Parts: sequence; C-alpha cells; structure tokens
Amino acid sequence: MHSPGSRKLRLAVLVSGGGTNLQAIIDRSAAGTLDAEVVVVLSDRSSAFGLERAKKANIPAFPIDYRSRTPGRIEKAKSLVDLSELDSRQKIIKSRDPAERMSRLARLVAAEDEMIRVLDSFRPDFVCLAGFMRLLTPYFIGRINGCGPRIVNIHPALLPSFPGTNGYEDTFEYGCKWGGVTVHFVDEGEDTGPVIAQAVYPIWPEDDIQKVRNRGLAMEYVVYPQVIDWLAAGHAAIKSGPGGRTFVRITDPDYAAILAGWLELACRRPG
Ligand code: GRF
Repeated sequence: MHSPGSRKLRLAVLVSGGGTNLQAIIDRSAAGTLDAEVVVVLSDRSSAFGLERAKKANIPAFPIDYRSRTPGRIEKAKSLVDLSELDSRQKIIKSRDPAERMSRLARLVAAEDEMIRVLDSFRPDFVCLAGFMRLLTPYFIGRINGCGPRIVNIHPALLPSFPGTNGYEDTFEYGCKWGGVTVHFVDEGEDTGPVIAQAVYPIWPEDDIQKVRNRGLAMEYVVYPQVIDWLAAGHAAIKSGPGGRTFVRITDPDYAAILAGWLELACRRPG
C-alpha cells in the first residue's frame, strides 16, 4: 500500500464504456497534477472506447471475458471458491432460484479471477471503477481489499439517493433541484460502500437531461482526481462509526476551500 510522500499511487482503472473519467485521470496524471499513475486498464467489453484511450496513452489495456459460459470456466470457478458460501454472503444477485444464482455467481467469479490475475501482475494500490457496469462479488472484493478498502467507485448521484445505473436520469426525472456525484469505497452491496466525497450541482429550470448529465460529468472529472489525491496523501481516513459502519474522514486542511471551489464551479452558468 502507498505510503504518503513516497512514490506515486498505482491505479488500475476498470471501464465498460467511453472512459471520460479515465481520460480525466490520465490527463491529470500526464500533467503532473495528480499524485498517481494509471498502470493498467481493464474492461468487461472488448469494444469499450476506454481501452482505446488507455492504449493511446501507452497504458496496458485488457478486455476481460465476462460472457463465456464454457463448462471449463464454471468448473474453474467452483475450484476457486465455495459457491454456496459465497452465495450466502453476496448481495448483488437477487434471483430466488439457487441454481440460477450459483450459475451467475460462477460466471462472475470466473471473469473476476481473470481480472485478479492481471491486476496481481500490475500491483495497483487502488482499483478505480470508472463507468464499470458490472457488480463485483465478495470473492473479488475480498481478494483485492486484503486488509483495507482498495476499490473505489464513482456514482452519478448523491448516494444513498438513486443507486443503480441511471443516476442522472433518476435525479432529473424526480424533479430534484440539486444533483450530485459520489465517490465511495466499494463494499458487497450495490452502491452502498463508505462515501469518500460528494459534490452537488444545481438543476436549473431550463435544463434537459443532457445538460444535467454534462454538468454532473464535469463535476466527476474534478471530484474523482481529488479523491485519488486524498488517497495518495493519506487524507482519507477510515473510521468505525456507530453500529460498526465504516466511514471516511477527510483530513485535508484545505477541505473547506476545496468544497467551496466545487460549489462555485457547479453553479457557474453558461455565459
Ligand atoms: C459516469 O457517469 C460514472 O459516474 C458512471 O458511469 C459513467 C461513466 O462515464 N458510473 P465514462 O465512461 O467515464 O465516460
């Protein structure tokens, strides 16, 4: 794990699509304004443009096969983990049919094991999900986390409101007057892990969903790199809260100024 003040943080980034957050991180890293470097990019989709962005930046990039259902892969998954035990801990596959749950879990574990093998060879300090549209099983989370949270996600809404895949649409359609973005550690639920940072943006009366999405994404490109910098500097302290819940305390002395800057940026109206 990274110790503050030493080398740059090593990041693995997982993407499924366009990878604009990945690009924001790559750009900041290349500009020398981020205390981190992206060492590998993985995607569950071989056609993800994020893989192209990585290659263009000379970052190793690998597609991971989430689709294969060959018996060999399923058997492999069974040899890696006790699927019934994993099923008793997992919170992401909600089917009532145990056979269906086992089969889906086995497919996920097979793909996750492929990811773990690649990640092991790049020794990332943190795994950053940036538009990665797959839920992770406790197998992957346990193997990556070791002795502390090491998987981070960005979500396009102010959690715990609007979890799931359509954060901007859900926020807009609800009629919210403020939207938000959340960066959080990943736990075994869907979008339930400890919050590291949140930023809000106004939704103006004349907005449509595209304007809302663009405004939110502009915040994502600022907030995710800031969180990475906090992780690099040891400014995101993990604490135990009431009821055993884990929460994160930001110890950056500039925290208030940074939040004020985010608010000022979010409220700027197009001229
Ligand atoms: C972002 O809105 C992120 O919050 C969500 O997926 C989207 C990914 O966009 N998880 P991109 O691939 O980074 O452009």
